[in-house]
This record gives sequence, structure tokens and C-alpha cells, in this order.
Amino acid sequence: MQSLLIRGGKPLAGAITISGSKNAALPMLAAAAAFREPCLIRGCPALTDVDAAVEILGYLGANVKRCGCDIEVDPRKIHRWEIPRALMEKMRGSVFFSGPLLARFGKCSLALPGGCPLGERPVNYHAAGFAALGATEHPDRPDVHQGALQGTEITLPYPSVGATENLLMAALGASGVTVIRNAAREPEIVCLCAFLRRGGCKITGDGTGIIRIAGGLPGSGTAAVIPDRMEAATFACAAACAGGRVRLTGAIHTHLTAVLDALETMGCAVDRDAAGITVTAGELTAPGIITTAPYPGFPTDAQAPFMAAVLRAKGETEIRETVFESRMHHIDGFRAMGARVEQTENTARITGVNRLCGAETTASDLRGGAALAIAALGARGQTRIRGLEHIRRGYENFAGKLNALGAEVWTE
Ligand code: EPU
Repeated sequence: MQSLLIRGGKPLAGAITISGSKNAALPMLAAAAAFREPCLIRGCPALTDVDAAVEILGYLGANVKRCGCDIEVDPRKIHRWEIPRALMEKMRGSVFFSGPLLARFGKCSLALPGGCPLGERPVNYHAAGFAALGATEHPDRPDVHQGALQGTEITLPYPSVGATENLLMAALGASGVTVIRNAAREPEIVCLCAFLRRGGCKITGDGTGIIRIAGGLPGSGTAAVIPDRMEAATFACAAACAGGRVRLTGAIHTHLTAVLDALETMGCAVDRDAAGITVTAGELTAPGIITTAPYPGFPTDAQAPFMAAVLRAKGETEIRETVFESRMHHIDGFRAMGARVEQTENTARITGVNRLCGAETTASDLRGGAALAIAALGARGQTRIRGLEHIRRGYENFAGKLNALGAEVWTE
């Protein structure tokens, strides 16, 4: 297990360029499996999750070329519709392949994917959507869904990001029009649909709760991945906790309104412009109650990084996690650093302290790991964060970017 080491207590200063979004790149790479002709995805971040998606495409039979951040996929020789368990378990994003493969072959396996341990994370909405489109479960293999797909109306019980993406990709293989109601509205979904439209698909309503998809596989197309709003949120929270002023070049402020508003409420100055965001830390005061919710609400992925920032905010903050049932593993590490956090189920009550101290900690998921790093930047002394591989799944050059902002960070 590799560690990230941080000697904290120094304010951050400078600018970093925000990388391409992991959660946009992964479904776009999976969508490439549904294309009939070669396609190009620009601006993919260099992350282990992206490596895993490329490995899956190669296994399926695609020819994949990487040139820096650009990934060109020639899907014409894809001949497999099933992904081995070992590859499925490498990341959550492997689930996105089932929709495109169902669209292409009329058959897919919806095995439980890997990913961060945030709770049960079932795929029942995906399975129910496939069934509504006409794919039935194989009698001996309940994970295998097959059949001729027919456009239909699907109402999701909850605006699940993954189910929305998977079902809209599966619907490309259906005859007629599919309507997804109570769809997730995240910017990553709009990015995926823009890519599919480049390939000639007829999709409308993405970014709203009702998405309409006309059947028809994409031809060829080129699209760019949007900047990673969660990387931007993480570095914004790091600036709040460590102090200083950070420019987040390329970040799209309209994707991050809930987090930026909360940072302003806490006493940070946030300058928003067309080319990025600048966060200047202030005297932090508790922002009150923060409740996570689907987009455009306060993102669950920013819950842990934001909690790290409020550890030093004067007064009491209450943070309620409503999206995942078990996403507060970072609290143990915060307490080891001297933070005052009480947890009741999915609610954390934080009483700000003047001083955090470096400690020995362990990351158990991606955003929780990043949150420990943020707290460490605002702590005196040295912190070790074991489980660096969690952070590497979702942050490109994390240590390098922090060092570029004047932090003292290294790996061991
Ligand atoms: N859910 C179900 N059944 C389903 C699908 C979802 O009960 O069939 C539940 C989940 O268990 C969860 C809630 O619905 O309680 C929301 O899950 P959602 O499907 O929206 O999440 P996801 O698609 O699994 C993506 C991101 C996550 C991010 C969430 C919410 C990717 C690869 N992952 O996950 O990102 O937290 O949406 O915004 O896009 C991360 O980047 O650290 C991360 C975990």
C-alpha cells in the first residue's frame, strides 16, 4: 500500500489547470463500444480508472490508441459482449459498458461492478430499465440480459447518474423513441449526450429530468471531456482549509454553484469567470447545514472534501449525506488529526477547531482520501495517508498539483 505524505501548515498559492472529468470520460469510453466507426475522445485524464476502461475496450476487441490525453477508439472489431469479473471489479465505471453492449449486440452482462465502498450500490434501476426496453434475464444467468429492444418510457425511482447513462446508451439499440423520466441532470450526462450527438444520435433533454432518445447507433465522432468539477471542488476546499489563493484554470463555475456558494458563505472569496475560478481563503465560519443531493444540489462527491474545509471553521456545521448510505469513513482520520466531529448515521456535526495536527491515517475511498489530504494541508506537522491507490483512481497528478501550489507533498 503506497502512502501520500504531507507536511501541512503552509498556505497554498498559484494556479493549476483542471484535468478532464473522470466521471465524464468513463461513460464516454464505454459509449465508444456502441459506435459503428472510429471515434476520438479528447482530454481524458491519466487515471487508473481510465486505464481500466481502455483495458476493457481492448478485451472486447476494440483497437485503442492513446496519444497524451486523447483516446482514439476503433470499435469495428468488437466481438465480445461479456467482461471478465476481474476487469469488472476494477472500478464502478465498468457498469457503463452494459448499456452500449446491449445496444450493439442485443445482449449484455450486468455484473456488480467494483468502485468505492460507499454502501450497497445496487444496479436494480439499470436492470429494470433494460427489462422495460425488452431485454429479458437469461434463465440460468440472471446477470445476462438479452432481446430485441423497443423504445419505451422509463421512470427512474431516483435520478441515478449511472442508470441514466446506461439506459440512454442502451436505448440507442432500440427501435423507436425512449423517454427517461426523473433522469439525472449532472453535467457529465450532458457531456456524454454531446458525444453521442456528434456521432449522429438524436437525443434531447439532457441536463433536464426528461431525456428523449431516438434509436440508432452512433457513426463516428469526436468530443472533448469537460473539466473535472470534483477536482476543482477538491482544490477549492484545499485552499479554504490551508489558506491562501488558488486559481483553478479551466474549471466551469456553473457546474459547481452549490459548492462555491457554500465556500462563500464560509468566508472565502470566489471569483468566477469564463476561464476558471479563483478562491481566496478567508477567516472561516461554519456555513450551517449542508445536505448532499443530486445535481444541481450539493454534490455527494464534494461532501468529504468540504467536511475537511469546515474542520477549521469557527462554530458548528452539520453535514447530511443523503445520496449514499455509507460515505463518511474519512471522519476517523479527521479525528486522529484532532478534529471535533460527531457522527449519527449519515449526519456529521463538526465543531471547528483552531488547530489540526498531523497524524497517521488511511484512505478508504477516493474522495475520502482527498479529504484527508485537505485536512493535512491545514494541519501542523506531518500526515501520512495510506491507500494512495484510492486517490490515484480519480485525481491526475494529485501530489504534483499540490506541490505546484506550494504545498509539501510526496509519496512513499
Ligand atoms: N442506486 C440504486 N440502484 C441503482 C443505481 C443507483 O439504488 O440501480 C442508488 C445508489 O446506491 C446510490 C444512489 O442511487 O445510493 C445514487 O447512485 P448513482 O447511480 O447516481 O451513482 P453512480 O452512478 O454509481 C456516479 C459517480 C459517483 C457519484 C455518483 C452520484 C461515476 C463513475 N460515479 O455513481 O462518483 O458519487 O454518481 O453523483 O460516474 C466518485 O467520483 O468518487 C464517485 C463515487
